[in-house]
Amino acid sequence: MLRWCFVVSMLLSSTTFVHGKIIHENNASADAQTTNEKCVKCHNSVTPGIVKQYLDSPMTQLLKKPVLCVNCHSYEHQTADDAHKAKLPTADSCAEKCHTDQLVQMRKGKHNLAWFGMKSQLAYHGQPAPITGDGYRGCSGCHKIGQKGLMGIQEGITEELESDGGKEIAEYRYGNAQCDACHTRHSFKKSEAQDPRTCSNCHMGFDHPQWEMYMSSKHGIIWDIENNQNVNGRTPTCQQCHMAEGNHEVRTSWGFLGLRIPTKENVLGLIKVAPNLEESLTKLATFLPDGNYEGLDDDPGWVLDRAIILQAAGILSADLQPTERFIEIVVQGEAANGPSKFNEMRAKMKAICNDCHAKNFVAGHFNASDAIIKSADHQFSKAIQAVQGLYKDGILQKPEGWKYAPDLLQFYDAKTKVEQELYLIMLKYRQRTFQGAFHASNDYMHWYGWAPLKASVNIILEETKNMRKAAQTVEAK
Ligand code: HEC
Ligand code: HEC
Ligand code: HEC
Ligand code: HEC
Ligand code: HEC
Ligand code: HEC
Ligand code: HEC
Repeated sequence: MLRWCFVVSMLLSSTTFVHGKIIHENNASADAQTTNEKCVKCHNSVTPGIVKQYLDSPMTQLLKKPVLCVNCHSYEHQTADDAHKAKLPTADSCAEKCHTDQLVQMRKGKHNLAWFGMKSQLAYHGQPAPITGDGYRGCSGCHKIGQKGLMGIQEGITEELESDGGKEIAEYRYGNAQCDACHTRHSFKKSEAQDPRTCSNCHMGFDHPQWEMYMSSKHGIIWDIENNQNVNGRTPTCQQCHMAEGNHEVRTSWGFLGLRIPTKENVLGLIKVAPNLEESLTKLATFLPDGNYEGLDDDPGWVLDRAIILQAAGILSADLQPTERFIEIVVQGEAANGPSKFNEMRAKMKAICNDCHAKNFVAGHFNASDAIIKSADHQFSKAIQAVQGLYKDGILQKPEGWKYAPDLLQFYDAKTKVEQELYLIMLKYRQRTFQGAFHASNDYMHWYGWAPLKASVNIILEETKNMRKAAQTVEAK
């Protein structure tokens, strides 16, 4: 383990940097300094860009005891032939003596779960290694912001996640630093991390276009018009809404998938609407939290629609019981919140809006956006039920190796046209509908979200009808 801040303070008690030039004021610092000068000198020709960034970094420029190459990379490599001996830091290295607060906060939030979340997906396991592994070209390129080596249900752990003690980290030479997702090396600037463009290489595109939504909302437009003020602008940045007071624990009420865990009361309330499900619902309720979602609609019809979505994702079984996926994705991966966390985060977010907007305006915005999830869920559930019916009636057969069918988590590996449409609704249209609503991007909410969602539901309803007709004709022959 690196103990560099400690080492630095011992060795460099009064060393200062002036314009990147090291001034020795204390002989005790000579060892570390001499070695560092060697690193800098040789790397000035090997990787001049890195040296330039390093010399320009606030940790080199501004600190009384500058951080040295050796503090992060150790002393072991010092010649042109033993580069493999250099150590590459992890997020823990940053916290070893200095940035403990940020690490502790980040560990509590969703970013830390990103690698685990990715690996919990069926779709991940179906793809070739270059897309998922240490080439960092696809899923892994974005999800490396998460900590490696978190173990869950696939390793037989059914409680909280456990750490493998560094085994998986050791399998990967690069990509364990996490913090460099926003504070890129070797300048590690705070100002860079405060810029919303920093979030945009991951939070963009197909299933989570928050960057595009922000840039088409009044918030982003004013940020851009008024010269990209990241701290005291008239409108907030991503960071001001999601990392208020510099808190590194990012997390939202609805999360990526726009799901929440039903409460005991929600599920028991369903029995009135679906008395035939009394037994399964009573059993399901024993797994669920108490409490209620403040200001949210608890219409049983919506509870049922959400249950059907979870069923199609294999998170609830055919008889509505929690599956191993429920534990892995919802409990361990924290993909959905229960009422206490949901309410707490909602209140915090509203308080942020309230700095610039009236309480009533803010409440209206959240009510409308929540209601949009309800409408989208109802459409989605109709389409799912039409496809589920095809499996029930033997018109579609469960593909070999599939545990559930239809299975939303097969993503684009689904076999039929109607299931490809379900996949598009789940990851593209429904996401854009509600994410666009919350981020005040009307075009994403409507034309990129709701409109194609409705079109897709119509395609599915029509197509399933045709498939039934075709099956009847075959039978009649
Ligand atoms: C005599 C030249 C020389 C010296 C001195 C030197 N390096 Fe290197 N270093 C290299 C070369 C060559 C590479 C490989 C570069 C490449 O592959 O393009 C390298 C690679 C690295 C890497 C990347 C390792 C990897 O696996 O990608 C790190 C980190 C590194 N050096 C840090 C240091 C530190 C810290 C010091 C001082 C303790 C140092 N270097 C001193 C020549 C040197
Ligand atoms: C504050 C910590 C820190 C300091 C100081 C630091 N580095 Fe790094 N370095 C990192 C991190 C983080 C990575 C990325 C590791 C990864 O990919 O997991 C890295 C990666 C590297 C790499 C390989 C990756 C690449 O982009 O090629 C080289 C080479 C390197 N550092 C050289 C140096 C040299 C030379 C110095 C001093 C002039 C230095 N570093 C100072 C943190 C540091
Ligand atoms: C390197 C890619 C990357 C960068 C850069 C990045 N994120 Fe993320 N972010 C992710 C991933 C991946 C997840 C999903 C984590 C998981 O699997 O649980 C995520 C999750 C989140 C969530 C949690 C949503 C929820 O489920 O509640 C928020 C909020 C968030 N990021 C905000 C930001 C902000 C703000 C920035 C810029 C300051 C940022 N992110 C930069 C990759 C990134
Ligand atoms: C462009 C970067 C990027 C790529 C590529 C990417 N993801 Fe993500 N992923 C994210 C971001 C950002 C989030 C969080 C989005 C949000 O909360 O709205 C996320 C969220 C997730 C989540 C949800 C976690 C949760 O708790 O809600 C899972 C699971 C996931 N991704 C798996 C994958 C898999 C598997 C792949 C490859 C097949 C993949 N991702 C490819 C950036 C990416
Ligand atoms: C998702 C992007 C993101 C990631 C990942 C991230 N940071 Fe930050 N960091 C920020 C932002 C934004 C700020 C500025 C916060 C503010 O406005 O006060 C910041 C500020 C900081 C500061 C300066 C605090 C201050 O008060 O001046 C430190 C130190 C820091 N981060 C360390 C870390 C460490 C260590 C990690 C990894 C454990 C990390 N950060 C990961 C976005 C990030
Ligand atoms: C005006 C404040 C605000 C700004 C600016 C903002 N967000 Fe959000 N963000 C929200 C709200 C509100 C939600 C929904 C919270 C909830 O679930 O109740 C949200 C949700 C999210 C989520 C979870 C999935 C979703 O989209 O609903 C992610 C990830 C996210 N934002 C990332 C970003 C990124 C990245 C940026 C900048 C490009 C950004 N946000 C800008 C307020 C903001
Ligand atoms: C730093 C101040 C600030 C914060 C914080 C802020 N906004 Fe805004 N917001 C603005 C400004 C300025 C405008 C542009 C006002 C106008 O259109 O005249 C705006 C515009 C909007 C609009 C579109 C304009 C309209 O009148 O329809 C919505 C919706 C909105 N904000 C919602 C929110 C929500 C929700 C939050 C919290 C998640 C939030 N804002 C946080 C400053 C802020």
